[in-house]
Amino acid sequence: MIPRARGLRPAIAVAFAMTVAVAACEKPQFEPPDRAARIAAADEIFSMALFDSIAWPSDSIRALEGNVVYSTYCRNCHGALGRGETDYDARRGLEVPSLVAPAWQYAEARDSVLHRVFVGHVQGMPTWGVAGISPREMDAVTHYLMDVLRPEVAAMPAGDGG
Ligand code: HEC
Repeated sequence: MIPRARGLRPAIAVAFAMTVAVAACEKPQFEPPDRAARIAAADEIFSMALFDSIAWPSDSIRALEGNVVYSTYCRNCHGALGRGETDYDARRGLEVPSLVAPAWQYAEARDSVLHRVFVGHVQGMPTWGVAGISPREMDAVTHYLMDVLRPEVAAMPAGDGG
């Protein structure tokens, strides 16, 4: 026993009790972090080097994994065919652009697609790079989008494509 510590213990206990009492009076804060701040944070950590070491046994396995990622994380908002404007979007007031239009701004810009998926957007696109999916899953879904879904939709009969 160290005599000097005796007087200290009740003081700590009182301080602790007060902290608990104050915390109990405050309203619980369940707000998600600010979207713009999350996007800025993701932009800072984004680097194409994140994707450098990703290797696949074959492009069909990469596409298969990409299809699973797309169905799980993207389809609600972007639609089974990547055209956006789903009922899910309408209910949430989201304006989701087509990813499969022939003249899409990222048609030749795979790196920009990875960047957009990683950082997200203030208009409702999630910031997948901060809390979401791994670079490997992003690589797979981007491959699926660029090399499977877009060509498939483009090859659909006239009037149905994009
Ligand atoms: C909660 C709804 C939502 C989900 C889920 C979602 N997105 Fe988006 N996405 C959006 C919205 C809204 C936009 C439009 C804002 C913007 O330009 O980023 C968008 C834009 C994009 C863009 C840029 C399109 C353009 O032409 O500017 C890409 C690429 C994209 N999403 C890919 C994906 C991928 C891949 C996934 C799954 C990993 C995904 N999104 C999941 C809502 C979503």
